[in-house]
Amino acid sequence: MAYTTLLLERSPDGIAVATINRPDKLNALNGAVIADLAQLAADVAGDPETRALILTGAGEKAFVAGADIGELAAVDGDAGRDLATRGQAAFRALERLEKPVIAAVNGFALGGGCELAMACHVRLASPNAKFGQPEVKLGLIPGYGGTVRLPRLVGRGRATELLLSARMVGAEEAERIGLVNRVVEAGTLLDEARALAATMLGMGPLAIALCLRTIDAALDASLDDGLAIEATAFGTACASDDKAEGTAAFLEKRAPVFHGR
Ligand code: COA
Repeated sequence: MAYTTLLLERSPDGIAVATINRPDKLNALNGAVIADLAQLAADVAGDPETRALILTGAGEKAFVAGADIGELAAVDGDAGRDLATRGQAAFRALERLEKPVIAAVNGFALGGGCELAMACHVRLASPNAKFGQPEVKLGLIPGYGGTVRLPRLVGRGRATELLLSARMVGAEEAERIGLVNRVVEAGTLLDEARALAATMLGMGPLAIALCLRTIDAALDASLDDGLAIEATAFGTACASDDKAEGTAAFLEKRAPVFHGR
């Protein structure tokens, strides 16, 4: 759990805040950050005390201003494919966590930063947030899932325009096109992210995990396969103590006490 580029703060309510901490480089993703993010995903998965994760960037200016261009400059074809594969695996591990992962986007989210935010389950943004995939300006394409997740979030036409023009999108437009869930008032980003995480943590923990698992598995399935995946997960939920408790609590007009099983 020793990170060189992340600050991790855990609170007793089960919410952990991971801050990418290279503010002098606008939190650009070098190999060390990618390794730390992979480790973070494994640590959160294996830590029952951590029930939700918020990801943000150090400083007021940037969430993450992209992959580290200094590192990219020295990368050849084979190394480039390896780099992309490593970054994709780290982001996918975060995306596959069965605990809510919220991106608190506090400034520039460019290139790998936009890709990292997109791999989170939910995105909140401060009014100064700016999103974009400027890789083509550098003669590159996104390597950490940008061409794959952006069309899924905003639609193929909008994604293609953004990917080919390198145009930056402000927070309001990002909300309008579905790239972020919500823009929050200046100065409230982490409080809003914590409040959202706390709301989720008030629900049945097994249900939260099953929802996340089903969304992930069903999104890329056919409609019929997706429905079958949902039915199986619904059956699992119906067999759980949490469902017995949740429905009983409703009928008895009291607050439920969930145990996550
Ligand atoms: N990789 C490496 N270093 C980066 C970086 C990146 N993606 N983005 C910013 N930095 C560094 C700058 O080189 C600078 O370092 P220095 O002070 O040692 O010279 C520092 O962060 C501050 O950035 P700077 O460019 O001076 O800030 P700015 O306010 O003038 O511009 C941006 C902000 C985000 C518009 C600009 O930094 C930028 O365009 N970054 C690259 C974005 C990008 O193309 N990302 C995709 C990479 S594939």
